[in-house]
Amino acid sequence: MFEPTEMQRDLAAAVAAFCEGALQPTVEEDDDHERFRRELITAMGEQGFCGVATPEAYGGLGLGYVEYCTVLEEIAAVSGSYAVSVAVTGLPQQILLKFGTEAQKARWLPGLASGALLGAFALSEPGSGSDAASLRTVAERRGDTYVLTGTKYWITHGGEADVYVVMARTGGPGARGVSAFLVPGDAPGLSFGRKERKMGLRASPTVEVVLDGVVVPASDRLADEGEGFTIAMTALDSGRITIAATAVGLARASMEYAARYATERRQFDTAIIDFQGVGFLLADMACGIESSRLLVHKAAWLRDQGRPFSDIAAMAKVVATDTAMQVTTDAVQVLGGYGYCKDHPVERHMRDAKVMQIVEGTNQIQRLVIARHLKRRLATGP
Ligand code: CAA
Repeated sequence: MFEPTEMQRDLAAAVAAFCEGALQPTVEEDDDHERFRRELITAMGEQGFCGVATPEAYGGLGLGYVEYCTVLEEIAAVSGSYAVSVAVTGLPQQILLKFGTEAQKARWLPGLASGALLGAFALSEPGSGSDAASLRTVAERRGDTYVLTGTKYWITHGGEADVYVVMARTGGPGARGVSAFLVPGDAPGLSFGRKERKMGLRASPTVEVVLDGVVVPASDRLADEGEGFTIAMTALDSGRITIAATAVGLARASMEYAARYATERRQFDTAIIDFQGVGFLLADMACGIESSRLLVHKAAWLRDQGRPFSDIAAMAKVVATDTAMQVTTDAVQVLGGYGYCKDHPVERHMRDAKVMQIVEGTNQIQRLVIARHLKRRLATGP
């Protein structure tokens, strides 16, 4: 775990080379114009990046989360937006693998894993963010169908996805009243509202999704009625590891850029890296990134071993995304006036890093999850 295997090293090198060729040329332009290029997902899918941890039988690479995190770190080092796309299209895959019927898996998994199809995860609502169990979208049972009505907010791939995992209320208030459904992107009654104008991740579409009497066959419900909240939480446990890996990629790219700059930039006849004020900033960046990656890989490894990882995933998310925010901010500082301008990627990395502290559960919610685990462990023993 402390050393990547030869296969993991080769994988990282191959992904880095691919991203340099395929993503780098348009990364700044796409950020400027808030442009999402679906063809890049197709291209990454063809390389296997969209289904790294999905079994080969369903069109994935059949590797684990450690490898998935390795891939995401490399994509994020070039583009945070596309790393998040790959992470988010992975959520429905993990949900299908754990909770889907064979028919549901056969219908969606090969397309999602190959990048031919794009997935989305629709939990948040205008009035329900951190308090996810208070969601108000309703799924009313009518014979062999459900009729879904409500509004979902901040949905990555809204309007682009081929399938949405939608959490909706089939029962009373609270977590136990929530069920999960697979809703095709072209379902009648599904429409798309506001596209958010964001500070960062600007090449990744974040869109309001409106369900106005969307009819879903009961066979498209995932697991039993009332299981939807557990499905969402289970998926987010895994998703938080992928967001943490994305944050490591952003931070690493910023640190490397700043370190190169500080080596070349001379002031007072000295390379600025040799001034302690700058050198120590870079040293702190390196410490944060190394420790973040270790935690991310530990969470991924626990998941791959089939062991509990919910609290470690939350820790990885907190540590890696808070580190990314600090590192990218300091990288801008190292570049000074240059860093504040769009000519250097550290400015984009800093904007992209901010949302990592928010998506898939704010870092305050992660701390709540960790504290609850601590409390439970004290009550029940290790
Ligand atoms: N795995 C499985 N089940 C879980 C679970 C987990 N990690 N966490 C909770 N549950 C279960 C509990 O066991 C409980 O089940 P029972 O009722 O059968 O006992 C049930 O879910 C309710 O649990 P809680 O009482 O802990 O629920 P809560 O209302 O206190 O909320 C919370 C817990 C951790 C705060 C949760 O609401 C949460 O994670 N909030 C943040 C939501 C979030 O992450 N949103 C991100 C949306 S996705 C996104 O960012 C967009 C994108 O596209 C990237």
